[in-house]
Amino acid sequence: MEVIIQPTYKKLAAVAAKIIRDALLKKTNLVLGLATGSTPIGVYEALVGMHKTEGLDFSEVTTFNLDEYVGIPPNHPYSYHTFMETHLFSAINIPAENCHIPQSTAVGHAEFCERYEAAILDAGGIDIQVLGIGKDGHIGFNEPSSSLGSRTRIKTLTRSTLEANAPHFGSTIDDVPKMAITMGVGTIMDAKQCLLLASGESKAVAIANAVEGPITAEVPASVLQMHPQTVVIIDEAAASELKRVDYYKQVYANKQELLSKDD
Ligand code: PGA
Repeated sequence: MEVIIQPTYKKLAAVAAKIIRDALLKKTNLVLGLATGSTPIGVYEALVGMHKTEGLDFSEVTTFNLDEYVGIPPNHPYSYHTFMETHLFSAINIPAENCHIPQSTAVGHAEFCERYEAAILDAGGIDIQVLGIGKDGHIGFNEPSSSLGSRTRIKTLTRSTLEANAPHFGSTIDDVPKMAITMGVGTIMDAKQCLLLASGESKAVAIANAVEGPITAEVPASVLQMHPQTVVIIDEAAASELKRVDYYKQVYANKQELLSKDD
């Protein structure tokens, strides 16, 4: 795993956005796996900025979102459909038909989940998957104990996740949808590259467990240790429980030096 530690959230978002931009400049029909939540917002802001100032072109890009709550309509103010429209899709030139988000109101969830997996394959697979991490180590809505080989399906959310999301939906966890459709851990592992993003001290233990702990379904993000192309991009606070901070910084500095010589 490559671990990139940046001094601030803004800088970590800029690093992630640059990786996506560089890939998009090389492959105009890039397939992106996208995440919601507070962490990727800065990445989307940076990409929107690149679209506006540099004309970064999303017209051939296809996207697949990780997850969506079950039981709320797409136009619900806190649906992930609304989130993506607000933070990215409405501000770039991506055709609406290229944007895929699990349909929580679909009749026949099992068939929907199979079609979602098939659509990812039809698009040629995900080139870059953006990921946040839950305090409990979840990726997507793959809560602890999720099969590390799981595919897109319905998951019941843990109390910790309900509590983290409660502020959006009302005052108590009773107001939060209890289930979600999520890409599986296996679906995520099929992406060619994963970008795992985290900011703030509240994510420090989850990041330490994911990066330096044992690979276990108790910490679904830990399976990314088996992924050949995962980049963990975090700020100092999220890195604060890692044992090998100095080494990760040295690796990154060396790589930057090598790249600058190649230019
Ligand atoms: P956050 O959520 O980005 O809002 O912290 C991440 C997650 O729960 O996956």
